Amino acid sequence: YLDIRGCKLGRFPSWLQTQKPLTYLDLSSTGISDSVPNWFWNSMTNLSTVYLANNELHGVLPNLIKFSDDADLIIDLSSNFFEGPVPIFPSNTAELDLSNNSFVGPIPDGIFQLLPNLSALLLSMNKINGEIPMSICNSQFITISITDNNLSGELPNCRNNTRLEVLELSNNNLFGGIPKWLCELPRFQSLHLRENSLSGELPPLLKTCKSLEILDLGGNIFTGRIPAWLGELSSLKILSLTSNKFVGQIPTELSNLTALQILDLSNNNLLGPIPMSFGNFMAMRNPHTEIGFILNNTIGNAYENMILDFKGRADRYGSIPLSQIMILDLSRNSLSGSIPYELTNLLGLLIFDLSSNDLMGQVPAQIGDLTQLEYLNLSRNKLSGAIPSGLSNLSFLGLLDLSYNNFSGRIPTGKQMDTFTNPKIYVGNQYLCGFQINVSCTGNEGEAEGPTIGQSNQTPTNVSENEDKNRKEILLLCLITIAGFAVGFWTITGVLLV
Ligand SMILES: *[C@@H]1O[C@H](CO)[C@@H](O)[C@H](O)[C@H]1NC(C)=O
Ligand SMILES: *[C@@H]1O[C@H](CO)[C@@H](O)[C@H](O)[C@H]1NC(C)=O
Ligand SMILES: *[C@@H]1O[C@H](CO)[C@@H](O)[C@H](O)[C@H]1NC(C)=O
Ligand SMILES: *[C@@H]1O[C@H](CO)[C@@H](O)[C@H](O)[C@H]1NC(C)=O
Ligand SMILES: *[C@@H]1O[C@H](CO)[C@@H](O)[C@H](O)[C@H]1NC(C)=O
Repeated sequence: YLDIRGCKLGRFPSWLQTQKPLTYLDLSSTGISDSVPNWFWNSMTNLSTVYLANNELHGVLPNLIKFSDDADLIIDLSSNFFEGPVPIFPSNTAELDLSNNSFVGPIPDGIFQLLPNLSALLLSMNKINGEIPMSICNSQFITISITDNNLSGELPNCRNNTRLEVLELSNNNLFGGIPKWLCELPRFQSLHLRENSLSGELPPLLKTCKSLEILDLGGNIFTGRIPAWLGELSSLKILSLTSNKFVGQIPTELSNLTALQILDLSNNNLLGPIPMSFGNFMAMRNPHTEIGFILNNTIGNAYENMILDFKGRADRYGSIPLSQIMILDLSRNSLSGSIPYELTNLLGLLIFDLSSNDLMGQVPAQIGDLTQLEYLNLSRNKLSGAIPSGLSNLSFLGLLDLSYNNFSGRIPTGKQMDTFTNPKIYVGNQYLCGFQINVSCTGNEGEAEGPTIGQSNQTPTNVSENEDKNRKEILLLCLITIAGFAVGFWTITGVLLV
């Protein structure tokens, strides 16, 4: 038994050659930048657990790997630079992780049939191309993850039931539709097809996917309306239809999804109002229990990219459990009407994005109740009225964008709002004032719900005039004070002197 994970080795240890009795070997993260000698693959015949992950191992794997005949052989070669085609692994392999390497060529046809003990096939982040072989239909795998490769063609049409629960094929070049058999699988839970070229309307057969928890179809070319029956998939926790070509209104039935934590409908052609019933997403109404920041609090573009990244991988983002993540993203559509105040019931929201729509009216004052918010984007709408002062209560808010609306009055200050002094996030709101944008306020807009009449022609161009006026007033005040003091002083001192 040898576990030297994390120790710095540099080279592949040749003394292993004499350690034939080894059954357990963990050389993960040992900084080995080397090729694996051939004797390792075919003469260490007692090894039943092999962890070589996270090194810089390179070279082509031989087709005949001989490790032990143990029923549950574990091989983890992930995060290395292995290249060449995916070899056939021993038939007693129970766990196999080849992700994040440079394997090329098609998925070997036999891999689904020749590994009856395997529960998870992990081939993500390689250079696998070609179509998904029909033999996938006969596999007994529970998880198949081949994201970030160059797979092409359509998803195969299977007839036999398999044990499949998780299918991850995001970031490939797949086209066609969603095949029917997936929803006939008894325990099918998780479908990731983000960033492919799948098209067509969502097939009604998806309705039968009752145990589905994750449906991620973002970045495809799906068309038509968002079907109302999606509201029947009562186990759904993540629904992402972002960056497709969906049209029409958002069906109110979606609010029947009581387990939903992440709803991302951004970047489609949706119109009409935001359903009031979206305030009923039960799972989003529970504030998470984690104390402190969940997203890292870095401002600027890096933050934006992180949010995108975050949404893409929200179900397995580092150590953060999915139960802590709640996102409502309806940005980049043509939604109209006002922001329903019912949305402020979603106390667990972490990311709330309604930007780039045609929303009008005032922002509900109760938005200050969403105390977990770390990202709030309302930019590029037609929202008006005052910026709710409750925003200053959102102590985890890291990114706020209110630009290009028609907000008016004084930009609130105090607590968290004092951290948002970048004028960019207020730009494009003609009637705002406040030190953040170098526009001084007149009157008492602070408390007012809207601008006062005297202030509505307050524009950045007359700032310096105002400052001039202020300076003159202060000078006058000083003169009067000094004169007053002199008169008062001499009145008394004079009397005493006399
Ligand atoms: C992929 O592998 C490389 C090399 O070991 C490593 O530096 C990188 O962090 C890995 N990427 C991921 C996403 O695991
Ligand atoms: C789903 O929502 C619709 C309207 O939003 C409602 O009429 C229907 O009863 C709901 N169905 C379930 C099963 O709750
Ligand atoms: C901010 O929070 C405090 C305490 O929770 C509350 O009393 C106050 O009304 C809130 N302010 C706004 C503007 O919502
Ligand atoms: C913007 O708000 C101002 C006053 O708050 C109002 O007079 C004006 O009509 C609004 N403009 C638009 C385009 O809604
Ligand atoms: C506001 O004024 C300060 C000091 O004059 C200046 O440094 C800052 O760049 C100005 N900001 C804007 C948005 O004009």
